[in-house]
Amino acid sequence: MKVNFALLLVASGYVASHAGMQYPQDPVGHEWRRTSLDSRSPCPGLNILANHGYLPRDGRNINKTILSQAATEAYGFPPHFNDGVVDGILKAHLQTTGTNDTFHLGDLSLPASHNVCEFDGSLSRGDTFFGDASHFDIGVWYRTGSRLGLYDLNYDHKHVFHSGGSSNGTAGNGSTANPGPTAYVSVETATLAQAARYREAMAANKDFTVGVVNGSIGTSAFYLYTMWDDAAQAAPKSWVRSFFEEERIPYKYGFPSPGAPKRGDHMRELSQQIYDITMGV
Ligand SMILES: *[C@@H]1O[C@H](CO)[C@@H](O)[C@H](O)[C@H]1NC(C)=O
Ligand SMILES: *[C@@H]1O[C@H](CO)[C@@H](O)[C@H](O)[C@H]1NC(C)=O
Ligand SMILES: *[C@@H]1O[C@H](CO)[C@@H](O)[C@H](O)[C@H]1NC(C)=O
Ligand SMILES: *[C@@H]1O[C@H](CO)[C@@H](O)[C@H](O)[C@H]1NC(C)=O
Ligand SMILES: *[C@@H]1O[C@H](CO)[C@@H](O)[C@H](O)[C@H]1NC(C)=O
Repeated sequence: MKVNFALLLVASGYVASHAGMQYPQDPVGHEWRRTSLDSRSPCPGLNILANHGYLPRDGRNINKTILSQAATEAYGFPPHFNDGVVDGILKAHLQTTGTNDTFHLGDLSLPASHNVCEFDGSLSRGDTFFGDASHFDIGVWYRTGSRLGLYDLNYDHKHVFHSGGSSNGTAGNGSTANPGPTAYVSVETATLAQAARYREAMAANKDFTVGVVNGSIGTSAFYLYTMWDDAAQAAPKSWVRSFFEEERIPYKYGFPSPGAPKRGDHMRELSQQIYDITMGV
């Protein structure tokens, strides 16, 4: 499917509120910015940390300590939450840094990363079999985003603030002024979109590597965990769009700075819920 993404953004009201290049809500020193020379990965969550300068902006020479501090400050992850991921990267010797304890984000985009850190059936990337599995792919993402209801015209993404929310990052109570659900991605919706993408990729890619169902579940659990709004018990659509489409922390839409502390257990709970729903479809 060929999609005019710019038109889509305008139609859904997303661009209007982004007009101009001023983003006053970005915390000082953590303004969103990236250049084409920066080292970036297939993982939006990591790229975002570099785009905002929580990780080195060039995306290079990252170690466990640096990533842990960045994710805690920006997202509110518990300290050392991603240590296992870094261990996996380093043990697989994906790094091209010449050291045993650092990696460049771009190392996760190398062919060697396929089926180690980068998997088939991504929500926003194509499969390695078709070429580029590293960069945001509008066609792939549009199908995911549509399934998540991100382009529904009947919701106002600013409603997140209008229905009892506050400007300090508490995104508010989706059940008050508005019939909130359409402003949020629920675990169930996320799971169904993930499962549909997985089936679609499996059918299209004769080299599709099966057996990473939990890997794809992890992807959905991870973005929901990162963009979760406790008050709504779901992820605001505006936050999810910012995360994938701009690789940007949605400060503009109320994401708190520093990140509100998250429970590590919540990631496990989300994974379990997604797993259970997936096995039921
Ligand atoms: C990561 O790098 C920082 C800064 O160079 C250093 O202080 C820290 O000890 C390093 N951590 C690890 C696990 O190598
Ligand atoms: C990395 O680890 C390997 C094996 O453990 C070792 O042989 C090598 O010298 C280490 N490289 C550096 C730069 O420390
Ligand atoms: C944000 O505002 C809400 C409602 O006014 C309040 O309950 C909450 O404690 C505030 N959170 C922070 C992090 O200041
Ligand atoms: C959220 O909305 C419901 C339904 O209107 C209300 O009962 C509840 O008190 C609200 N919660 C908050 C935190 O405002
Ligand atoms: C996949 O995840 C579920 C839920 O966390 C778990 O019960 C199951 O054992 C996992 N399967 C594999 C192969 O890791």
